[in-house]
Amino acid sequence: MKRYLILISGRGSNMESLLDAGLPGVCAAVIGNRPDAAGLALAESRGIATMVIDHRGFASREKFDSALADAIDHFAPDLILLAGFMRILGDAFVERFSGRLLNIHPSLLPSFRGIKTHAQALAAGVRLHGCSVHFVTPALDGGPIIAQAAVPVQAGDDEAALAARVLIEEHLLYPRVARWFLEGRLQLLEGRAHLSDQIAVEGALHVPQLAPQFAQRNSA
Ligand code: GRF
Repeated sequence: MKRYLILISGRGSNMESLLDAGLPGVCAAVIGNRPDAAGLALAESRGIATMVIDHRGFASREKFDSALADAIDHFAPDLILLAGFMRILGDAFVERFSGRLLNIHPSLLPSFRGIKTHAQALAAGVRLHGCSVHFVTPALDGGPIIAQAAVPVQAGDDEAALAARVLIEEHLLYPRVARWFLEGRLQLLEGRAHLSDQIAVEGALHVPQLAPQFAQRNSA
């Protein structure tokens, strides 16, 4: 059975969606970089090993990265899933786990990297927003894209409304991609996400139903 490990910083709703998905693998541990990350208690309540590596206890980013990497290796995971993990990881860390490190980002990459993605999308006036799952490389939110889900931006949306609509899709998309990886149908090859033929047919883009006003117009 393959082993996966989840890194979190906060609420842990993406972590929960992964744990609830019945993935073909064992969750070896959940590691947080903040002792108060709510997701840690949730993982513990499900009998999953948890660990805190508090970034504030380290003199440098490199020292934190190295302690985190050693902790991860202790659990010997095949797959590492960043799920709302809000620390930038250095090149050495990323290269150490290259090909088995995934992230979910709340935008349609390559648009809106970094933080406050929903505010960025509203400010830009895009009509389509969403989330992306990608392999992690040293370029922040710039690694090869694996799959995306798109949602419409609706008139009157504020940051919270848009974030909530995207989060629903995050919770569907991330477990799907994690399953592909654990089933051996997804790998990083020559800097690109390589999906098995079957996944290519199923589609790595998920576009939920259009908002009712658009659907109506399209069927008229
Ligand atoms: C999610 O939107 C994730 O994509 C982003 O931060 C949020 C974390 O939420 N990076 P949660 O901790 O998974 O509930």
